[in-house]
Amino acid sequence: MSDNQLNNVTIALTKGRPLTQALELLSKIGIEPVEDMAVSRKLVFETNRSGLSLMVLRSVDVATYVEHGIADMGMAGRDVLLEQGEEGYYQPLDLKIGACDLMVAALADEGPLPARIKVASKFVNIAKRYYAEKGVQVDVIKLYGAMELAPVTGLAHRIVDIVETGNTLKANGLVAIEHIAKVTSRLIVNKTSLKMKHVVIQGLIDDLAREVNGE
Ligand code: PRP
Repeated sequence: MSDNQLNNVTIALTKGRPLTQALELLSKIGIEPVEDMAVSRKLVFETNRSGLSLMVLRSVDVATYVEHGIADMGMAGRDVLLEQGEEGYYQPLDLKIGACDLMVAALADEGPLPARIKVASKFVNIAKRYYAEKGVQVDVIKLYGAMELAPVTGLAHRIVDIVETGNTLKANGLVAIEHIAKVTSRLIVNKTSLKMKHVVIQGLIDDLAREVNGE
């Protein structure tokens, strides 16, 4: 790596709902994108801090970019990290934003269930692990969105999904019945980047930790 590359740091952020809170947090430690990320279609943004860029990715891709060192750091939901195995990077900080819960949900007027139920989720690994730990055999069906539709249409008996306000469940006649895990956004860091760009990256981790933990 050249000296110039060693001074460049890229942080991968999750697009969609978590982006606003991530940008607010960065703003509190003095980092601002030079253009409005909410309106631009760009995927990489320079910031007011020389050499520091922000990348906006799908949640499932943040850890991949960090693991491969394309992004030095990332902010990603624990739901997605748990699903992917939480391996291949450091996870130094709970950012305490994007709080929600991983829950099992069912139809509010759920009828009798067969001995072996079907569970729909985009978090198939989390769902399989959860039921395996309970010693309950289920069939897990992979979906990519609109999980709530599965019990309503009869595709599955239950779903494993994130619940924030509970509005989506309610609007579809579902209720949360079992709690699997609390979810917040986590800071993740590429292992090589932390060694090679230690001063800059450790400085950012410390700034974020002070802000998040009120130290
Ligand atoms: C998530 C989740 C629920 C909804 C829960 O979907 O899958 O549908 O949010 O939020 P609520 O409790 O506040 O209603 P998201 O909007 O992230 O979109 P997705 O279906 O693409 O995952």
